[in-house]
This record gives sequence, C-alpha cells and structure tokens, in this order.
Amino acid sequence: MFPAIAIDGPAASGKSTIARLIAQKLGYTFINTGAMYRAVTWLTLSHNISLDDTPAIIRLLASLPVEFGKKGTESIILYQGRELEEELTLPEINQNVSTIAAIPEIRALLVQRQRQYNEKEPVVMEGRDIGTVVFPKTPFKYFVTASEAVREARRKAQGLKDSIQERDRKDAKRSTAPLIQAPDALLVDTSDLTIDQVVAILIEDIQRKLIHS
Ligand code: CDP
Repeated sequence: MFPAIAIDGPAASGKSTIARLIAQKLGYTFINTGAMYRAVTWLTLSHNISLDDTPAIIRLLASLPVEFGKKGTESIILYQGRELEEELTLPEINQNVSTIAAIPEIRALLVQRQRQYNEKEPVVMEGRDIGTVVFPKTPFKYFVTASEAVREARRKAQGLKDSIQERDRKDAKRSTAPLIQAPDALLVDTSDLTIDQVVAILIEDIQRKLIHS
C-alpha cells in the first residue's frame, strides 16, 4: 500500500496550493479532485443536459472520450485529447458544481477513479471527502480552513467570480459525503499563516507518521 495524504477543506482555503507543494516536497503525485467534479459539470452544461438528469449525465460520461489522467506528477483531465483547464473555473461552473457533486452516483464513479490513482503510487489528494470517504483509513488527514473573510479575499485576488459561501453551504448540507472534518484529521486554520508555514506544519506531521508507520 502506498501512502495517501488527504487534504480537505472549504472553498478557497488554499488546499490546492498547499497540496501541490507538499506533493512536490515528498515526490508524490498531486490529485485535484475538485477539478473532476468541475469537469463533469462542464460536460453536462456544454451538452445541454439538465443537472438533475443523473442517468443522462452517467451515459454522457460513459460515451465521451473524457480521461482522468496524469501529466508529470499531477492529475489532468483530457476531453477529446485536449486538456480541460480554464473552462473549469468559469462562473457557471462555480455556480453549478455543488449540485453535480451532491449526486451520489456521480460521486461513486469519481471516488472509484480517485482511489485508482493510489493503486500504483503515493498521492497527495485534495477535496472535500478525501479523509472521510475516499481514504478513510489513511493516517494522513488534514482539514485546511481559513476565516470566511480571508477566503473571500483570496478568491477575489484570483480574479474569479465565485460565491464560496453558497457553495460551502451546499457542500456541507448534502447527505452523501458532506464537507466535514474527519474526527481524526488535523485542523489547520490558515487565516494568519503563510503558505510556507502551513506546508511546514503538514510536512512535520506527515514525516513523523511516516517514521512510525
Ligand atoms: O478550489 P475550490 O476550493 O474552490 O473548489 P474545488 O476543490 O475545485 O471543488 C469544487 C466543488 O467540487 C466543491 O465546491 C464541491 O462541490 C465539489 N467537490 C466535492 O464535492 N468533493 C471533492 N472531493 C472535491 C470537490
């Protein structure tokens, strides 16, 4: 079994930046699971499928050349051989992704793909349910957060239109795999910390656990 580092937290908490740096430091592969939910949302919207038509979305995923792959040491999503990137942070994706992410059948499908990444190598995976659902047995669980004001400011600074409060509310109240801190996760409030400080806290904990495992 290869180590799986699980990093969860609300929108704009800095998870991606932190997860990527930790993956680089450890030489593990970085997996952004939010991008997978965003890609399904983009595919659904661009094929004019209703967000509540689960069977049609599943059929679409099965019939389309969409690939959850790897580029170097990071996960990527290819559609018809083209990498999906900018389209995944469009305002309409931010607005609708939590609706798609609440559909249990879609989650089951994506969770299966997420676990596959860890079959052959160690991973740093970030999302909402990595420590609770995807890798419930991993000893490496982190819940990264920041005050709402700080997170709003961070998203604004990225120049992205995104009502993170609304998304967090939907993610936290859904019945399948809600956004919640795993009881055994280390909570890190990043409001007053630099990225380097957060990375150092996680790396110290990971290395201590790696030695004892
Ligand atoms: O980067 P940001 O925190 O804004 O969001 P993201 O990680 O790209 O995730 C986008 C959305 O995907 C979230 O608001 C959730 O609705 C969903 N998601 C999820 O349900 N489970 C995950 N493991 C990852 C993302």
